[in-house]
Amino acid sequence: MSAEQSIGVFDSGIGGLTVVKELFSRVPHERIVYFGDTARVPYGSKSVETVRRYAREDTELLLRHHPKLIVVACNTVSAVALDVVKSLANGIPVIGMIEPACKEAIRVSASGKIGIIGTDATISSKAYETELRNEAKRMGKEIETFAKACPLFVPLAEEGWEEKIVAELVAREYLHSLHEAKVDTLILGCTHYPVLSHVIQTVMGAGVTLINSGAIAAQEVKILEGDAGAKRSDHVFFVSDIPRKFQSLGERFLGRELPTVKQVTYEEAWVIEHDS
Ligand code: DGL
Repeated sequence: MSAEQSIGVFDSGIGGLTVVKELFSRVPHERIVYFGDTARVPYGSKSVETVRRYAREDTELLLRHHPKLIVVACNTVSAVALDVVKSLANGIPVIGMIEPACKEAIRVSASGKIGIIGTDATISSKAYETELRNEAKRMGKEIETFAKACPLFVPLAEEGWEEKIVAELVAREYLHSLHEAKVDTLILGCTHYPVLSHVIQTVMGAGVTLINSGAIAAQEVKILEGDAGAKRSDHVFFVSDIPRKFQSLGERFLGRELPTVKQVTYEEAWVIEHDS
């Protein structure tokens, strides 16, 4: 099978494995080439200019593997640099996290009160609000949006503390205003937040629908690419650094054993074999 038939996925780090998990379940016959920029994560606290530069370099790296489709798993990149990825992709379809999640949120929200949570960069960009407003207009629906940056959710998920009391305390603090606003739908606008979905649901209440942006985007990939074919296992995972605890964290996010991961540099296409 040629590399042309792969789906390229990239993220600021290994959070994007939560999106790969959804791709594995919806399009198991597709070969995934993943790049996680673990040397420069997090993106969510960086300036727009820096994230756009990183997005350009990440896309260039992925393009060397000739993907037939690019999934921008990182919500921060999807929010501030999707145009950068699209212009480099030069006609290759690009799926970001924002548009599919917004369509789904408007579709399922009965009250039209929609909450969005994400990194600082994602929330400051207002990319979700803008897309929700445009989409609601197209669909002839009335909506109200409420956004909140939840930066501590990322380290909590990486530490594996999603079931601990500290996660609930932090979630109560962050989500208070959205709960008060009585949103009936909440977009999880960050790769890491599905890991915390249990505590987020507990704090928001059972009546609130959580939208997993990665799962909805994976559904979009399935619609584009179809779902026929045998399950594949020859996926390729690249990262720019192999930090401590990488394996266990990756496996938690992916929900299964992490295949061999290779470390690469940005400048070239060669691969450094890494003993893990
Ligand atoms: N992947 C990022 C996102 O989805 C979260 C981690 C980071 O800040 O880089 O926004």
